[in-house]
Formats: sequence, C-alpha cells, structure tokens
Amino acid sequence: MMPIALCVLVASCVFALEALIPVHSPCNALLISPSLVGFSIEQDRWTDWVGTTNRNEFFYNTLTNLKHLTGKAPPIRIGACDHTNFNAAVQFSEALFPPPTSQVPYPQALNVTAGDGYYMTVRHLPPGTEVTVGVNFGQSNITAAVLEAHSLARAFRSASVVRANITLEFVEIGNEADQYALKGLRHPSFSFKAYMREWLRFSREVIKAAQITETSRTKLLSGSFLSSTHSVLGFSPQAVLKSSVFNTEVGPLITAFSQHHYSGSFCSGNGGILQDLMNKIHIRGNLSAFIPDMVAMARHGLDYVIGETNSYACHGAAGISNTAGAALWALDYLLYAGKLGVSRVYFHQGIGYKYNAIQPVHLYRSTINGEPFMPPQPPHIQPMYYAAAIASEAIGPTGATTIIELDIDHPFLAGYAFFERGTLVRAILINSHAFWAGDVEREEVRLQLRSTHDHWLRPKNMVVKRLYMRGVNETTGLRWGGQTYETRSGKIGGRLRTELLPVEEDLVIRQSEAIMLSFRYEGSN
Ligand SMILES: *[C@@H]1O[C@H](CO)[C@@H](O)[C@H](O)[C@H]1NC(C)=O
Ligand SMILES: *[C@@H]1O[C@H](CO)[C@@H](O)[C@H](O)[C@H]1NC(C)=O
Ligand SMILES: *[C@@H]1O[C@H](CO)[C@@H](O)[C@H](O)[C@H]1NC(C)=O
Ligand SMILES: *[C@@H]1O[C@H](CO)[C@@H](O)[C@H](O)[C@H]1NC(C)=O
Ligand SMILES: *[C@@H]1O[C@H](CO)[C@@H](O)[C@H](O)[C@H]1NC(C)=O
Repeated sequence: MMPIALCVLVASCVFALEALIPVHSPCNALLISPSLVGFSIEQDRWTDWVGTTNRNEFFYNTLTNLKHLTGKAPPIRIGACDHTNFNAAVQFSEALFPPPTSQVPYPQALNVTAGDGYYMTVRHLPPGTEVTVGVNFGQSNITAAVLEAHSLARAFRSASVVRANITLEFVEIGNEADQYALKGLRHPSFSFKAYMREWLRFSREVIKAAQITETSRTKLLSGSFLSSTHSVLGFSPQAVLKSSVFNTEVGPLITAFSQHHYSGSFCSGNGGILQDLMNKIHIRGNLSAFIPDMVAMARHGLDYVIGETNSYACHGAAGISNTAGAALWALDYLLYAGKLGVSRVYFHQGIGYKYNAIQPVHLYRSTINGEPFMPPQPPHIQPMYYAAAIASEAIGPTGATTIIELDIDHPFLAGYAFFERGTLVRAILINSHAFWAGDVEREEVRLQLRSTHDHWLRPKNMVVKRLYMRGVNETTGLRWGGQTYETRSGKIGGRLRTELLPVEEDLVIRQSEAIMLSFRYEGSN
C-alpha cells in the first residue's frame, strides 16, 4: 500500500516495488494454449459476422490478426442455440427480433431458423479455425437438434470447409440448462437428474447425426452451465462427473466441460463500476471460485473451457463494458484464466452488444442508447480487442509457451511471465488503477525486476511495449506500442514504438496502463 500513498503525495515517486522473476520456467508453470482467446457468437446474426455468399472481410481480418500472433486461428463458438430450429427451405437463416429499446438497442432474436447455407458459412473463417456449435435442447424438440446436427455434418464435410482445414471441434447440446427452470423452458422442478436423462437421450441421436465417434475430430462439450454455485437443483460440474453418462457409450465422446461466467449482471440500468470490474482482487475472486471445478475436470482428463463470458451479462453495461478500462479487465482476466489452466476463454459477442471486442458490420443505431446513427457507423473494433491481441502476442506462436503469475505486492499491479523452451521470454504487467480522462495527476508505479538467480543466462535488455489509453472511460484512441487496430480494415496500422531498457532499470507503469516486456539475451538481438 505504501508506494501508492507516497506517489499521491509526491509528483515523481522515488519508490520501486520489487518483483522476482525466474529466468527458467519454474515447475509450477503451466502450458498456455495458443487457442486461449476465442469468441462466442450469438446465433441469431451469425451470418452478419462471417458473411453469406462473400466473407465479411473485416471480421476475417480481426481474426487473422490474432492468428498471426499465436499461429492458431481463434476458436469460434456459434452459441446460444436454444431458439434455433432448422428448415431446409431457408437459404441461410431467418430470425425474429423484438423491437429495440434505448436500454436494449440490439435485442437478441426470439427465434432463429437456419438452413444448410447457415452452417456452410464457416468456410469464410480463417483456415485452421476450430468451431463449436450448439444445437437446440431448450425447446425439448429432438427433431430440431437432429436436423441441425445433420446439417452441421454436411457443412463440415464439404470440400471448401475441409480444404480450409476448418473443423467442428465440439457440438454443444443446449445452453445454460441450469437456467431452464428459471426461464420457463422447463418445469420449475427441472432437476439435474432429469436434465442428465434428457441430455443423454438427445446426445445419442446427435452423435449419430453429427457422426461423432471415438475417432472423429468432433467431440461433445458438456456443461455450458451459467453457475456452478446455483446448485439448488443439483447442477454442478461435479454432478456431471458423478452422473452415469460416463458409463454409457456417450461417455468417451465427452472431452471437455464448459462453464459460462459473467462478473455481474446489469440487465437494466448501468450499475457497474469500472474500477470494480478491473480490480485485481475481483478478477482473482471471480475466477478462482472455479478452481475446484477445474481440478475435478482435470482429474477426469477433461479439458476446462470458459465457453461464454464477458464483463457484465445482458450484453454489457454502458460506459463500462465498451471502454478502455474493460480492455485492462479482459487482459488480466484472460491471463489469470490461462494461469489457472483454462484452455479457452470465449468472449461472447453479438451485433451491437456493448461488450463486444468486434463490431463487424455497419451499425445504424447507438449500442449505448439506441439513438439512430447518421451516417451509420462502419465496422470497427472496441477496446477489448486490444486485450485479445496483447494476450495473443504474449502467448506467441510456439504452441509450447508456459506461464506463471508474478507475485507482486500491490493492489493494482498484476504480472505474468512467459517461457519458451524453459527460458523467460516475455512478461506482461497490468496497472488496473482506474485513471479517468480529464483527471490531472496520473500516478505511476515503479517496479524493479529481480532475477531469482544470477545465472549467466540472465537477459540483458528488455523491449518495452505499452498499451496507451487517454483514460479508462474512453472508447477509442487506444494505442498498442504506438499502433492501432482502429482502422477501416481491422488490420493493424501505424508505426511500432517501443523502448529498449537494461533489465536492471526501474520500470514505470502508469495508472491504467499495461506493458509487455520482451527479454533480450546476450548474443540475441
Ligand atoms: C417465431 O416466434 C414467433 C413469435 O413467437 C412465432 O409467431 C413464429 O411462429 C416463430 N417462428 C418459428 C419458425 O418458430
Ligand atoms: C489444421 O488445423 C489444425 C488446428 O485445428 C492444426 O493443428 C493442423 O496443423 C492444421 N493442418 C494443416 C494441414 O494445416
Ligand atoms: C420441432 O422441430 C421440427 C423441425 O423443425 C418442427 O417441424 C416441429 O414443428 C417442431 N415441434 C414443435 C413442437 O415445435
Ligand atoms: C467479481 O467481480 C465483480 C466486479 O466485476 C465484483 O463486484 C465481485 O465482488 C467479484 N466476485 C468475487 C467473488 O470476487
Ligand atoms: C471521459 O471522461 C472525461 C472527463 O470526465 C470526459 O471529458 C470524456 O468525454 C469522457 N470520455 C468519454 C468517451 O465519455
């Protein structure tokens, strides 16, 4: 706490915090997946994202940027499937939307009808994309689920999709079934037992239709619950593991468990406070609640994914989810999840939602209050996209990067170190103390990195790259190493600006800033 108090009092803070940083990957370091950063797309306007007859170049570019950083295309979930039916007579999809309101300018559809062309549009994704698709379970209509699964199988076996190496990684049966009783999709007494029985009946038909076998690339994703604590009706990851499903022929086809998570819910009104969202302790509190679930899944050899997440449920809170501060939240959230062993984090997105990283089409009204835009706003990224890019850059393209969290005794400063072939290569430091544009004094933290041992292989220099924002409430004008993704094409623009410092030098991390360090060793450049 001391450094902050001092920094407030004196303009240039003389204090340097210390953080130990190992030069070799310690034994508690975990592999961090190059597919960590994913997107979950609302089914109702999926074809707006990806394109129909032609691909959506803007969306493609934003995904390809990330693919260049990690070597893997970001995984995509076409989710929220419980209002989607299938009709072969529909070319792509048809959806029925309720009227927009100022509080919900971009409501989600009441129902969606997909045809074969709908799933075929996955061919417009970047080559190598791994896709998860949900089929309808909410409406208890097994015919709908089976027709969708058949159409999925046709799409992912089509020549253009196979040629682009775009694969159906998971089929998900139903979305947040733990909420069905609350939402009126099932009887109020809909228990976990009843759920599991019905899910098994559906999955037996879906695996046949989607041709899921022990040797197929495609597997089943289990869970997709919103809450693991909301277990009045017995829904929990542990209950899934204990259920008899693993003693059936469906058991071996389930290879991952998906949890949905939001840091809070502000459906009406904008009750969120940005500093609360960004808060280091809150992020750790929100995610570490799932550690017992992750451990249980790992014991059973199942992968743990956060299949749908974002800042605040109900499409985000205005002035919070769409701001630069949310980028700092998302970066810490992603890396903390990765450090806990989560293999994928799918940020939920819908056309015009406040918490999007990407707005892939022209918008004709404000995402904040629904006021008409004249002229319409062209496709653009929102601040959270920078978090996706920075995390991807930190993970890098080796496919074998390991991560640890740095132990930093500071309420707002979080840090992570990254190792390749066992050697320290990068670090990320995030100062989540909120600075509002217009505030006068922007505080800074000074940090001195100390190597855990004076090995001859210690790095000599570090390249410092900074995420700049005018203030956490701003929604544009961010710069990552001087560069911007706020371009017409979604491709990076501007000239790269970095600093080169000896590793012994104090690092200055300003209020509401994130930095990446890339370490340079003797003999390398
Ligand atoms: C969609 O919902 C509307 C209103 O509830 C209903 O009239 C219509 O029949 C539904 N369409 C389909 C295809 O389910
Ligand atoms: C296809 O994509 C997968 C990732 O889904 C990747 O591991 C594999 O190397 C790719 N294969 C080819 C031939 O590019
Ligand atoms: C179930 O889905 C099928 C296939 O789209 C449709 O024909 C049928 O009307 C649906 N049943 C109900 C009860 O909605
Ligand atoms: C989760 O984060 C929110 C802020 O977004 C905070 O209000 C809440 O207390 C956090 N929960 C935990 C368990 O830390
Ligand atoms: C951020 O806050 C400052 C100071 O209150 C204000 O001048 C600025 O317009 C705000 N930015 C946005 C995008 O609301």
